[in-house]
Amino acid sequence: MKRPHFLLWFSIAAMLFLTSCMDKEEKVYDNPADIPVFREMNAELTSPPFVPRPAGKRKAKKLIVKMEILEKEGELTDGVRYMYWTFGGTVPGSFIRTREGDEVEFHLQNHPNNKLPHNIDLHAVTGPGGGAESSFVAPGHEKVFSFKTINPGLYVYHCATAPVGMHIANGMYGLILVEPEGGLPEVDREYYIMQGDFYTKGANGERGLQPFDMQKAVDEKADYVVFNGKVGALTGDNAITAKVGETIRLFVGNGGPGLVSSFHVIGEIFDRVHVEGGNLINENVQTTLIPAGGAAMIEFRVDVPGTFILVDHSIFRAFNKGALGMLKVEGEKDKKIYSGEIRDDIYLPEGPGIQSMPTTDEIVASEVPAKSFEEQMEFGKQAYMQTCFACHQAEGQGVPNAFPPLAKSDYLNADVDRAIGIVLHGKTGEITVNGNKYNSVMTRQMLSSDEIANVLTYVYNSWENSKKVVTKAMVEKVKNSK
Ligand code: CU
Repeated sequence: MKRPHFLLWFSIAAMLFLTSCMDKEEKVYDNPADIPVFREMNAELTSPPFVPRPAGKRKAKKLIVKMEILEKEGELTDGVRYMYWTFGGTVPGSFIRTREGDEVEFHLQNHPNNKLPHNIDLHAVTGPGGGAESSFVAPGHEKVFSFKTINPGLYVYHCATAPVGMHIANGMYGLILVEPEGGLPEVDREYYIMQGDFYTKGANGERGLQPFDMQKAVDEKADYVVFNGKVGALTGDNAITAKVGETIRLFVGNGGPGLVSSFHVIGEIFDRVHVEGGNLINENVQTTLIPAGGAAMIEFRVDVPGTFILVDHSIFRAFNKGALGMLKVEGEKDKKIYSGEIRDDIYLPEGPGIQSMPTTDEIVASEVPAKSFEEQMEFGKQAYMQTCFACHQAEGQGVPNAFPPLAKSDYLNADVDRAIGIVLHGKTGEITVNGNKYNSVMTRQMLSSDEIANVLTYVYNSWENSKKVVTKAMVEKVKNSK
């Protein structure tokens, strides 16, 4: 009675063996168009910044992609609304992951609530219009076409319906990856980022629902340049993350429509870049150029913790138009790679031969004291314009959020001795002036007692201050009380 059992187990084992063989590549094809497909599967599509699981070593398949076009209102930045046209409901559109030799059966679905016809041009397609001609689809319809992926790489797709620039400007772009046979090298984390420029009737920050501005787009004068469709899509709680020691692969595209991207991560060097998303690999790259309608695969290991800022290094775009993201890395510090601040030393431009600052007593010998209030005001103004003006400004108005005002200053007028002490010794730390907090550093000023008396007399008798007169004796008293 053992024989039937043996046969049963043998046939199960044989079946398992054959099945596992079928999922492994046995033959390398000279012409990728000859790669046969085994069975079919539905493509996993993901919203940015995430990507589908790797194709890796799986065999080429008939891959069914169902992409739905949605026209939907969203937020471009705080208080600014925009009518986005999207592939899959997001900007950029859903990430499509294939492997070389896949036969992609593409279903382009135009939601019945949409107002316009659209189509898709995939740069991974070899064929007229990259699929655009076969995929022009009216609202409430679905178009189907298929193509074989014969060139590995990272490719942009976009709408190509007239006016093409407007469809792209409204967010109709995304990335499709064609993995080479055998897959890409394994990494710990992969993310999907795509830059785009937006053109609105109102200026940057103007609130409300902002329509697309054709003239600004033609002139390439973008109001917003952003990663993943909106200002802040990759900052704060939306930042991409990693742990020290992990390897990262960024799939970065540029939808345009108008601008090229100088993609850079502040404080990180790209170990490897698949230039323009192709086979050419550049190593140790600081900034990689991503053309409009192009992409790059960027790989690096994160070695130290911290927040690394992703920018378009055309830098006003980053800090004024939105092209800024964050990669937050957690883990142990490595002081060999990056020390952090070690010291804050005194810098002496005269060189190390001068060991100590000159004392105010040494300065005093060279000057003539003021003989009257008018002279005090005159000398005081001169000293102010040489010493204090850069921070506190010509009219004592200060610099908002940086240097406190001296004009009509409650802090100044409340305590003369304190003011003298600050000029003598400097001041660090938070103070409140006229209800506003300031937290900056004022260094001790190299002024004699006479000069301090003059400059404070000038300040107290200007800009609606308390009209106190400060004498040399008052300065000396504060100096000696220390
Ligand atoms: Cu379109």
